[in-house]
Amino acid sequence: SSTSEPIRLEDRIRDIPDFPQKGVLFKDITPMLQDGPSFHAALDRLAAHYAGAGIQTVVGVESRGFILGAPLAYLLNCGFVPVRKFGKLPSQTVSVEYALEYGTNVVEVHKDAIQPGERVLIVDDLLATGGTVSAAMELVEKLGGHIAGIAFLVELTFLKGREQLKGHDVFALIKY
Ligand code: PRP
Ligand code: MG
Repeated sequence: SSTSEPIRLEDRIRDIPDFPQKGVLFKDITPMLQDGPSFHAALDRLAAHYAGAGIQTVVGVESRGFILGAPLAYLLNCGFVPVRKFGKLPSQTVSVEYALEYGTNVVEVHKDAIQPGERVLIVDDLLATGGTVSAAMELVEKLGGHIAGIAFLVELTFLKGREQLKGHDVFALIKY
């Protein structure tokens, strides 16, 4: 029966042409998030992939990485660490500047958020050029954390962001 068919997450990723600028086809995950069974299935599939991997901390990248990272940390029974955009974290931080299509951005993490050798899973909603996740990786490495995995809901393979993540365990639920 239809109730036993696996949920197709890709059916709930919406294409938005010319957002945020002309010529860009934006992959909008909000329809998937707003459907309970789909959101649940996405998180269960991510958690299943890392079961037994000994993940100690999930690092989520502001903003959309928080939506997946926090519930994934809960499912893996480990802590959650936010990588935030510049100026948002109140205690001592380390920072990394990274390139955007126009200009640069700065992300930060609390200095005491990750211990040396800790097994960290970095989570974001989408891998495009890889600039954002590379910055998060640099922050984790600055604190001596071990990057045990990098997880995404969506990977835009044609942008070749994965080439920047060589040598790491990279997992994406949906690839375009
Ligand atoms: C988007 C997306 C990823 C990043 C991917 O974030 O959520 O974090 O871009 O692109 P990249 O691989 O080319 O770096 P965005 O900076 O738009 O901010 P948001 O998460 O706060 O919406
Ligand atoms: Mg983001």
